[in-house]
Order: sequence, then C-alpha cells, then structure tokens
Amino acid sequence: MQVAREEIIVLGTGGTIAGRAASAADNVGYRAGELGVDELLRGVPVPPGVRLHAEEVAQIDSKDMDFAVWATLAGRCAHWLAQEDVAGVVVTHGTDTMEETAFFLHRVLGPGKPVVLTGAMRPATSAAPDGPQNLADAIAVAADPQVRGVCVVFAGAVHGASDVQKVHSYRTDAFSSGDAGPLAYVEEGRLRVLRPWPGPATKGAAPALLRPAAWPRVEILVNHAGAGRAIVDALVKDGVAGLVVAGTGNGTVNHALEAGLLEAQQHGVAVRRASRCAQGRVLPTPNDRLPAAVGLSPVKARIALMLELMP
Ligand code: SIN
Repeated sequence: MQVAREEIIVLGTGGTIAGRAASAADNVGYRAGELGVDELLRGVPVPPGVRLHAEEVAQIDSKDMDFAVWATLAGRCAHWLAQEDVAGVVVTHGTDTMEETAFFLHRVLGPGKPVVLTGAMRPATSAAPDGPQNLADAIAVAADPQVRGVCVVFAGAVHGASDVQKVHSYRTDAFSSGDAGPLAYVEEGRLRVLRPWPGPATKGAAPALLRPAAWPRVEILVNHAGAGRAIVDALVKDGVAGLVVAGTGNGTVNHALEAGLLEAQQHGVAVRRASRCAQGRVLPTPNDRLPAAVGLSPVKARIALMLELMP
C-alpha cells in the first residue's frame, strides 16, 4: 500500500523573514532572526490535504551561518526526509547565504524529495513584507509531486541549487539563476515548469559531516588589478587546506597571484579557479595549470572543494 505523503516540515533558521524592526516603515534597520517559525506560519495558506510541522533549527542572521548550523540542518533534513509520510522540507533562511546553504544541502543530501529554501528581503514587521507570500509559495512547491531536490523559491520563481545567486541587495526580487534561468514560476500556488528539473547530486555523505569542527578549511581570494601573492602565502603558512580564487573573466589570475597559487598547489593545497563574473562559467582549457571550478560561483566552488577534501 502506498502511504500518502501529506506532511511538509518547515525548519526555521532565522533571517530577515523572521526579522523585527521598530517601525513598519523601516526595511533595513531591523534585527534578523527574531520571530519563531510558528509565528511565520500564522495565516500562511496551506495546500489542501497538506499538514505542516514546524521546527526551529537556528535563529541567526545568515551572514553568521557556520558549519555547526549546516551540520544540524543537514541532519534534521535527512531525518524528516526519511519519514514516509513527509512530502518535503521547507527551510526559512536569511537571503545573504541562502545560495550557499542550498548548494551545501544539494551536495550532501542529494534528496529525492523536495527541500525548498525561502526567505524575505523585508522584515516581518514591514508595511509590505514579502515573507508570507514567499513562504506560501515554498510550501506549495514542496507539496508538488513534480519537484525533487534542493531549490530556492523567491519572488515567484523557483531556482535550482547549483545556479541560484543573490544578485540584489535591496529589491524583493533578489535572486537569479543567471544564464540558466529559473526552473519554474509559482503562480497562485501552481507550478509553471520552464525547463527539465535537474537530477539529484551524487550524495556525498562523508563521516566527517557529523564533526563540523574537523571540516577542511577552504578560503576564497580575488584576482583584481594589482593583486599580489601575499594573502596566498599567509594562508598557506596558516595551514589552509584549499583555496578558491575568484578570477577575472574566464577565471584568470595575474602573474604574481598565479605564481603563489602554483606554489601552494605544489605544497599540497588544493586550488580551484572560479570567476568573479556574475554570469557565465569558467571554460577549462587543456593547458590549465590551476583546475577550473566549472559552473560554480566562488562561494559554491568553496563548498564543493571543502566536501571533496572531507575525510
Ligand atoms: C540574513 O541573511 O539573515 C539577513 C538578510 C536577509 O535575510 O535578507
């Protein structure tokens, strides 16, 4: 007998969606992560036949997201996704590092069921908060049987975990999938699918995931006019395990920085080249001496490398 999957789990982690300001006119001077996830769900429409269960995982501003919260969040997602009657998981999250958490969950869980992240650009106390609609859309997406894997639902669009990026610091339509475009739109609780849904990532459940204090240290640096190698040398001396360089254009780095990175590589530090461009992807060539992080932004390349280096 098939068990009806009717439960959606909503995991709260804080962010502006749970933010409170002193006045309804204030959309920037608020404290993120103040309201509980139960409060966020009050009055949010739920698709027919769907039951919600809410759980608080963290109450943080997502600029402070760290390995310990990621480890707990991944554990709670895995726990709930394994329950037969659970259709999917929604994660309320600050927008600032949402794309990183989405990509991390995509890579470590590779879920067959939906894991949908959402948040808001306006605090809950705003005269016109965007959180309630985003949350309603996220629940509708998580309940839709066409959906699987990790995605971000924001301002009526559904973005895949690999492509999504926060591209605006203020607008409510703050996320983009760049060249790839969104996977779908959410319209009145229904999904309008635009392109084939990406398959799940290969699940990388390393045993070290349970011990976030032991996760390999990978740092990001940037190529820019006049960039030198001093930061590379300092990081290597400090015992860094991996380096991602946000290169210019097609992931290029200037001579001094390249010399530092090649030497770091010789000393056993893993190096990847991403691009600081907001769109496009680094195209590798056969002569590359520093491997390209193909299709990944610098912050996602950092997560991919960290997972690669995980014991
Ligand atoms: C945060 O990322 O927690 C604060 C900013 C936001 O959610 O928009």
